[in-house]
Amino acid sequence: MEELNRRMEADRKLVEERLGSWFAQGPRYAGLMEAMEYSLLAGGKRIRPVLVLEVCRMCGGQVEQALDFACGVEMVHTYSLIHDDLPAMDDDDLRRGRPTNHKVYGEATAILAGDGLLTEAFSALAGAKLPPERIARAVACLAHEAGALGMVGGQTLDMAGEGRALTRGELEEVQSLKTGALIAAAARLGCIAAGGTEEQERAVEQYARCLGRAFQIQDDILDVTSTDGELGKPVGSDLAREKATFVSVLGLEESRRLVRELSDQAQEALAPFQNSEFLLWLADELAQRTH
Ligand code: IPE
Ligand code: IPE
Ligand code: MG
Ligand code: MG
Ligand code: MG
Repeated sequence: MEELNRRMEADRKLVEERLGSWFAQGPRYAGLMEAMEYSLLAGGKRIRPVLVLEVCRMCGGQVEQALDFACGVEMVHTYSLIHDDLPAMDDDDLRRGRPTNHKVYGEATAILAGDGLLTEAFSALAGAKLPPERIARAVACLAHEAGALGMVGGQTLDMAGEGRALTRGELEEVQSLKTGALIAAAARLGCIAAGGTEEQERAVEQYARCLGRAFQIQDDILDVTSTDGELGKPVGSDLAREKATFVSVLGLEESRRLVRELSDQAQEALAPFQNSEFLLWLADELAQRTH
């Protein structure tokens, strides 16, 4: 366990060093770059980029060859958080333990910082030192999973569902899209970077779809059971926005049971792989996470 924890720290460090130098050279454009770095370097859990690196390793690659893909996924994720917190969306004031981007830089710059990160993510993918066909597949995958048929579609359904009681099926669709899609993209990109087979890509995608569902249900649970200090974002946000969540639809106990069940299913999806110990452990860690 200690060893796997250290591996996770090493992966995070690799990603953070790369992200930290990304915008260091070049113009700052009236606070735009500062706003982008403010959220990007605020120290999130880095689950998605770690997933990219570790899936690459499990599929026979070196973590370094997946680093630009990992950074791209974290840029898309960070953009989604900046926009998610805007007054027009969840209207939250705290993120990653700091005031939200729009609170510090204003709404216009926050919107543009999100736009900048989203666009730069695809530059990161395009610039990876990998065979062109792997880059093309990665770009198509991330565009699909992060776009209107993936995360953006999910965020739209999430907003449209405010103040309404969703059925369990509707809620599963919202969460699979708004959260599951980008986590699935992360796993697939790791496999693509390694030059994995289509069969391997399908298996890691299955792992990530289960992991993503468990991750969002745990996020819903923590919104009612944690504290602002521990989470680094405001608890009670879902209640305040009258969002249907797994907790509001199924209750705490059933939600916790589902997190466990989905994590087990995620682990089962890794049966075809050797060297899966890190990703097996990660599923357990995320199911027990407290922030
Ligand atoms: C928050 O994601 C948004 C969800 C999809 C639940 P994370 O919980 O991964 O946020 P960070 O990156 O650690 O800040
Ligand atoms: C956000 O879901 C998912 C995306 C940002 C795509 P939430 O709105 O539940 O995330 P938090 O709780 O604000 O991190
Ligand atoms: Mg939201
Ligand atoms: Mg939110
Ligand atoms: Mg939430």
